[in-house]
Amino acid sequence: MRRIKVGVLGATGSVGQRFVQLLDGHPWFELGALYASERSAGKKYREVAKWFLPYEMPEAAAETVVKSVDDISETEDIALMFSALPRPTAIKVEKSCAQAGYAVSSNVAVHRMEKDVPLVIPEVNRDHLALIEEQRSRRGWDGFIITNPNCSTIVMVLSLKPLMSLKLNEVRVSTMQAVSGAGYAGLPSMAILDNVLPFIATEEGKMESEPLKILGTLEGSEIKDATVNICASCHRVPVIDGHTEAIWVKFEDSVTEAEVKNAFNNFPREIDTPFSPEKPIIVREEQDRPQPKLDRDAGRGMSISVGRIRSGRMKNEVKYIVQGHNTVRGAAGASILNAEVLVEKGYI
Ligand SMILES: NC(=O)c1ccc[n+]([C@@H]2O[C@H](COP(=O)([O-])OP(=O)(O)OC[C@H]3O[C@@H](n4cnc5c(N)ncnc54)[C@H](OP(=O)(O)O)[C@@H]3O)[C@@H](O)[C@H]2O)c1
Repeated sequence: MRRIKVGVLGATGSVGQRFVQLLDGHPWFELGALYASERSAGKKYREVAKWFLPYEMPEAAAETVVKSVDDISETEDIALMFSALPRPTAIKVEKSCAQAGYAVSSNVAVHRMEKDVPLVIPEVNRDHLALIEEQRSRRGWDGFIITNPNCSTIVMVLSLKPLMSLKLNEVRVSTMQAVSGAGYAGLPSMAILDNVLPFIATEEGKMESEPLKILGTLEGSEIKDATVNICASCHRVPVIDGHTEAIWVKFEDSVTEAEVKNAFNNFPREIDTPFSPEKPIIVREEQDRPQPKLDRDAGRGMSISVGRIRSGRMKNEVKYIVQGHNTVRGAAGASILNAEVLVEKGYI
């Protein structure tokens, strides 16, 4: 397979560092350029990335001189941009990259809900990538933007997908989200250590709206939203990586815990690319699993773990816990997997 040169927008941040780590040694993608703000531009990556991952900073990246996103030109030797920019910067930069002919695989919320922008989890709705054609013709772009969902949404929706065929109609979710989800400079340690924060700005809205698009069906050049009711309560906890979510699902008719467990166990792999995990959903049998410390790295961070599957007290209700790595499956790994599917489908 030919090597494809890629850039990382927002390379010094919490998600950007994950991109740099995960792309090191990738069999298809080769790191071509690292972009960040004016603060970092002109300096070597090792000088400006306050590396906090438990892996060595890849040598090639360490010596790379970071560029400003303001200096991206149409002639970069790059086919694909991974984006981990803050929202206000992403609005302008992602669009101008797509206009200039780059494929953009973005983590950022800003374009996710636009009608002609695919919001994709490959195991769930890779057919939605067909929206790329609509996006290009409507906007007159040579390139395009695709997005992956919010970190807590990805973990939840992957677990909901196999339940759709059991006639799922209501979801309640309570999250316990890791601090890496708030970005590198995100939270003062005095606010989060020995504490739980019962509010994460805009998170509940994303968890309630994004799944309807992802679980929706592609009809012509539009997505018809799924009709599941979702109610989310989101909380930040003092865990470094790995979001845990308590989920209550209700079905149209009676569904047993065994049927839910079977649906998880039988969820197929279907795609076979370097970042697609062999088992997207792993059922944990032990009563005290899943836990972020033990389970976040399953499938190199790309599998989610479910456990404590049991009947609820309400009619037709089952409850379970799901856990997934927020900066891998929920962010950088998700964008890389999306990009691999783009390559397989011939978009890059
Ligand atoms: N963390 C997660 O788990 C997660 C999950 C899903 C999605 N996301 C989304 O991914 C994006 C990045 O999140 P993060 O947690 O990685 O944030 P972060 O740690 O704060 O990193 C932000 C990055 O953007 C750069 N940047 C900031 N202001 C800029 C500007 N004006 N122009 C150009 N570059 C600028 C920073 O560069 P400098 O170092 O030069 O300032 C840094 O590289 C956000 O939109 C977030 O919502 C995050």
